[in-house]
Formats: sequence, structure tokens, C-alpha cells
Amino acid sequence: MDDSANVIDYTRNYERQVVLLTGATGSLGGCLLYKLALRLPTKKIYALCRRSIGDAIRKWESTMPQQIEDILDSGKVEFITGDLSKPGLGLDTAVCERMRNEVTAVINTAANISLVQDLEESLQNNCQTAIALLQTASTFKKVQLFIHFSSLAVNSFLSGGLVEERLYPAPDEIPNPEGDLAGLPGADPSKLPPDDRYTWPYAQAKHLAERLLLRQPSPIPVLIIRPSAIGPATAEPFPLYGPDSAIPIHQMLLSFTLTDQDLERMAMHHDFEEVPVDLVANCCLLHLANRTTGVVHCSSELYVTRTGAEVLSTVRDCITPVELAEVFRKQRAAAAFMWQNKYRLDQIDQTPTWTVECKRSDYQKQLTGPLALVPAQHGPQQHLRRRIRKMYRVMLDGGQ
Ligand SMILES: NC(=O)c1ccc[n+]([C@@H]2O[C@H](COP(=O)([O-])OP(=O)(O)OC[C@H]3O[C@@H](n4cnc5c(N)ncnc54)[C@H](OP(=O)(O)O)[C@@H]3O)[C@@H](O)[C@H]2O)c1
Repeated sequence: MDDSANVIDYTRNYERQVVLLTGATGSLGGCLLYKLALRLPTKKIYALCRRSIGDAIRKWESTMPQQIEDILDSGKVEFITGDLSKPGLGLDTAVCERMRNEVTAVINTAANISLVQDLEESLQNNCQTAIALLQTASTFKKVQLFIHFSSLAVNSFLSGGLVEERLYPAPDEIPNPEGDLAGLPGADPSKLPPDDRYTWPYAQAKHLAERLLLRQPSPIPVLIIRPSAIGPATAEPFPLYGPDSAIPIHQMLLSFTLTDQDLERMAMHHDFEEVPVDLVANCCLLHLANRTTGVVHCSSELYVTRTGAEVLSTVRDCITPVELAEVFRKQRAAAAFMWQNKYRLDQIDQTPTWTVECKRSDYQKQLTGPLALVPAQHGPQQHLRRRIRKMYRVMLDGGQ
């Protein structure tokens, strides 16, 4: 098949798709909403908003002010209210009945991505909610794929080396089925003890969600996507799109009080593992068209691989030492100290490093059209420089 045939093939697939999208007001969800409504011939999108639809529109007006009107005008989106942590997902019964007869695919980006919330909260927000959604989606008559966003952090208990695109068992050698039940909707989350082998409780909760979602026999086909840290968009909805609250690197820099030596040590020991949000959205939508199941990774391997040292050298090209020092002199919020202690910057050189396998999406690098992983005219180095300058302004404003 030549490339134009591939593009026609994957775009045509969307003419039949009725997608239930959760987390539509979030960073990744907003990008997916834009793509589904304006870049693909999607039949219909049910966009789930946790609060009122008015609140959701106000959020999009701040995150993608130039695009939201076109999304509203597309006539393809039905905005529905719901909360995955509530019984029946907080959905109106009539809406749920319509979705039962129409929805062909579910994309779950809803989450609480805080890395400092405790395990009980994280299980409720990141695991029980996902299982509740799967249970509801399993009653949909036409559903062909349930896509759930996990995170590469679920593998943080591994001792380094290659991370494969497969489900990993829990780190405990002796299975703890009772503890695992804590991930089911309505269960007591305190039944699962926190496990410090994961970098954060968020990672432990997300890992349990993976294991429960991929339990066999599965009621419907499931795909788990594990992105690395997500960064600003290359192009869509617009270059550098992405709320700072959802960009881990921005949050880390806003939280830490770093010295030049700290930066140097971090850069020397770690690759820059980040992937643009629109690339993550495209990777997901191509896998939806392909009906991929199981586990896929979405990391810098699909974009550009850079060492920390390369990124630091670009930072030093774009920002003078005086400016950099000014950023780290700014007062950090109280919660920041938790981060600083948690990450133990003094031991950064002892933390393991991973090689992330991405081969299940390798074929996507060849594809062009609206879901091309990287836009044709994109210059990654220029993008990095612009992004660093924006990041600098954000840091000076304290993320306001
Ligand atoms: N950001 C990253 O670097 C990163 C890296 C790896 C994996 N991921 C994963 O990728 C996915 C998307 O992350 P993101 O960066 O887009 O996060 P985000 O910007 O914080 O968005 C989270 C979304 O989830 C919604 N939500 C939270 N709890 C909900 C509930 N109980 N019911 C319904 N909706 C709920 C939020 O709604 P409100 O607007 O009402 O708050 C928001 O729309 C998540 O699964 C995350 O774990 C993210």
C-alpha cells in the first residue's frame, strides 16, 4: 500500500467512529478533542466534562482560545457531564442509553496526575475510575476498543534496563489478590499498602489499573498507552500548546530550588524523556484506527532522542546565567519542598536509567497526513529553543 492509501485508510476509518472521550478538558484530552473534531472525519464525539459544560468551555477558552469556537461549530461534539468517581459515572440515564447504542471506541485520558497525592486518593482517581469506565463501556453494543492512558512511570519499580511493551506483574513475588481488589470501584483503597519501590503512589495506582484492565478474559478489547513525560505540542492545536500544570518538566522546575551543579548532575545522568502532546494524540488515534490491543509505549523514541546534556546546552544558549539564577531565586510554594525531598537531588546519579521499547508504533513514523507523528516542516531544535524561552517566562511568573 502506498502512503496516500494509508492516509485515506486511517482517515476513512473515522467516518464510522463514535468516540467517548474522557478528560476532554485536560491537556491531552483537549488535543484529542481538537484532532477528532477538526482534523478527522469523526462521525461523533461524546466529550465527557466533569463539571458543568460552561466550566469546560471556560477552561478551553483559556487553553485553546483560537480553536474552541471551531470545535463547537463542527457539530460533531456532544458535551456531556459526568464524573468517573461517582456511581453510574454520574451520567444522565438517557445519555448513557444513547451511548450504549452508538459508541464504537472509548478513550480514557481522565486522571489526577499529581505526583504527591497519597496512594488512597490516587487509587480512587486513577484506578477505580478507569475500571468503572471499563465496566460501563463493556455494556456498549458497538464498542470495538477501549483505550486507557497509563504512564511509563508504572515501570519505575524495575531496576533499569529495557522496558518492554507488555504488562509487568506487581513487584511482589507473592501475589496479593486482596490488595488488588482495592482498585475496584467502591472498594476500600486503604487495603493496598503503599509500596516505596514505585517512584510515586500515582505510579503504583496506574500499575494496578493496567493489571485490572488487562485481566483475562477481557469483556472488550483494551489498549493501554504508556506515554513518557508529556511536553508542549509541536503544531496542534497550536505550537507549544499545553497547560503548564500538565507538563511535568515545568512543574519540576517550578518546584525545585536548583543550583547550576544540580542541573549539571541531572543532565549528565538522564536522557531527556519527553514527548509532545500532539504526537501522543496522533499515536493514540492511529492505534485506534489500527485496533491495536495490549500495551504500547509513546516516548521520545518516536520523536527525537536527546541526552540531558544536549538539552542543558540549548538552555545555556537561550538563557543567560544571570537569567537562570534569577529563576531559581524565586520563592517556591510550600508543596515544592515535598518534591525536593522526595526526589533527593543529591542522589540523582544513583537512580536507574531505562531504555524504552517503542517498536509497536514504529510503523507510524512512515505515515503522513493529519496524524503524521511529526509535522512535515517541523524543526525539533528550533521548537526546543522556543519552548525553553516560553518555559523561562513561565518560571519567572511562577506558573501564573
Ligand atoms: N502529563 C503527563 O506528562 C503525562 C505523562 C504520562 C501519562 N499521562 C497520562 O495521560 C493522561 C492525560 O493526562 P493530562 O496531562 O492530559 O492530564 P490533565 O491535563 O490533568 O487532565 C486530566 C483530565 O481528567 C479529568 N478528570 C479527572 N478526574 C476525573 C473524574 N473523576 N471524572 C471525569 N474526569 C476527570 C480532568 O477534568 P477537570 O478539567 O474537571 O479537572 C481533566 O480533564 C492521564 O491518564 C495521565 O495519567 C500524562
